[in-house]
Amino acid sequence: MEIDRRHFIAALGGAAAVKLMSHEARAEALEAYMMQELNTQAAKKFPKAADIEAQIETRSYRRGVGNLFLTTQANAKVKKLDPMPRKPTFIDFLRYRFGQISNHVLQSANRAMKTGMTEEIILACLLHDTVHALIKTDHGYWGAQMYAPYVPEKTSFAIRYHQALRFYEDKKAGYEYPDLYRNLFGEDYVPAPHIQADYKMLLNHKWYMEPRLVTVNDLYAFEPGVVVTLDPFIDIIGRLFKDPKEGLGNDNSPVAHMWRTMIIPDNPL
Ligand SMILES: [Fe+2]
Ligand SMILES: [Fe+2]
Repeated sequence: MEIDRRHFIAALGGAAAVKLMSHEARAEALEAYMMQELNTQAAKKFPKAADIEAQIETRSYRRGVGNLFLTTQANAKVKKLDPMPRKPTFIDFLRYRFGQISNHVLQSANRAMKTGMTEEIILACLLHDTVHALIKTDHGYWGAQMYAPYVPEKTSFAIRYHQALRFYEDKKAGYEYPDLYRNLFGEDYVPAPHIQADYKMLLNHKWYMEPRLVTVNDLYAFEPGVVVTLDPFIDIIGRLFKDPKEGLGNDNSPVAHMWRTMIIPDNPL
């Protein structure tokens, strides 16, 4: 496939932004870019759910596995990870463990900030897919649980249910069913029963708009020319994210093991 170098670099935020990326991050970005381009080229030709299922036995891994635990690039190997500080904070995880997904959540949070969302929603956008480092299957539920002890209830509610609402359009709110899902799940995919049940519940919930706004600000593309750093979000994180003084993973909370697993993903047991 031909890569338009200029477009690719612009999509990553320009040459300066690319310079700051590690080799690994660049390779991942290229893979994501190519996937997106392929999807655009194959526009409106989507697989069926049965085609997606038929791919399972062509892989040596399952699609729900967390990004920290494998590389899906052909012939590539996983890399030794940077050590974490002794008392790691959320920002440390964003820097050292969340990988390419950091770019996506920063873009979502940036969009939420620009469109005047509440701080709870901006934070939800910043966190919403970061659990992909650990696990991708049912990520809304895993992610909400992992963050619940440290963030406002509205934020964890929005993270939990953005997953279900991603499967359902709400054009009035500005959310259309994404082609990405037609590609990922198949055009005739029917959401699992727990997703259907949660959607039904959410329609009458007073906080329906919290997860809905995460879906509206969710981005799967690298927006050309947008450079997003963590800087605009430092204050919001400081106000709303209660980093434990012992460090995430050391605080003996009910979810501390999830954070530890990301600190030491190479441990065999
Ligand atoms: Fe998500
Ligand atoms: Fe997302």
